[in-house]
Amino acid sequence: MTRFHFDCDPGHDDAVALLVAAKLLDLTGVSTVFGNSNITNTTRNALAILEAADLSIPVAKGIGKPLVDNAINAESVHGKSGLDGANLPPPATKPLSISGPELIINTARQEDDLKVIAVAPLTNIATAIVDAPDIRDRIREISIMGGSTTFGNATPAAEFNIHADPEAAAIVFNSGIPIRMVGLNVTTTFGITVTQVQSLLATSGKLARAIGGALDFYLNKQQSLYRREYAPVHDVCAVAPYTHPALIRHENMHVDVECTGKLTRGQTVCDQRRLSAAEGLAPPKASNAAVAVQADGKSIIDLVMNTLQSYP
Ligand code: BDR
Ligand code: CA
Repeated sequence: MTRFHFDCDPGHDDAVALLVAAKLLDLTGVSTVFGNSNITNTTRNALAILEAADLSIPVAKGIGKPLVDNAINAESVHGKSGLDGANLPPPATKPLSISGPELIINTARQEDDLKVIAVAPLTNIATAIVDAPDIRDRIREISIMGGSTTFGNATPAAEFNIHADPEAAAIVFNSGIPIRMVGLNVTTTFGITVTQVQSLLATSGKLARAIGGALDFYLNKQQSLYRREYAPVHDVCAVAPYTHPALIRHENMHVDVECTGKLTRGQTVCDQRRLSAAEGLAPPKASNAAVAVQADGKSIIDLVMNTLQSYP
């Protein structure tokens, strides 16, 4: 049976995705990485979420900065702690003594049917691939929340997870491991509304109330920063293909990561031309990714709400 490794930077939507994945899939472990906040905060948040959910899934602290640049963060969206509004108690559990990339390598070598869910900058996964190239034949698929077939959010062209470490993303997309990608072109088309936040806050389950508090903070940021009336739950869209395969439609295409463009660094360049070779045009490269092009947003939000409310 397929088992899953989860790489994240919690992060409001990471918290939601982790809770959905932990409830519905067989998770072998979690690695954390810098991203929405610094590595100390994202690791503490991952441990706190799992502890509050009474889940004993091992967590390895990953890498705190990108392969080339200095670390950026998304505290303007997720707050100083990376998970503002949740007010979870500080976790008593500690991360493993091995690093995030080491956990990915060990798991890939142990598991015969492993898929990786990656909802953060791809630094841990790229490092694991560079340090242990044999895992390229061991990982059956990597499901990435990142990039876009259209616009960005960190810059007009680039989505945050890819923009935070374009060199790492390029290594992963060119690794030969099958990639499933869901980007902003799909993840921003639906989200959690104020009514749904209120429904979480009124739930008897303590964890659902904590996540309701977190999503209240996050929705306010989405309203003030992006003038959106709902809070996208980007990261759960990398989980849904494994729990409910009919909810997101993908198309196979070639994806490259722009690492040098002055205006476009971190952009995922998705070849949607459906072109057969033609003189004078850049020839199409073989597909390396199944890219999300459309989603049943209502059903994904129902899945999120029902799962969060099922936690005691
Ligand atoms: C992605 O960036 C992060 O802020 C979110 O957690 C998500 O993974 C969306 O661009
Ligand atoms: Ca994330």
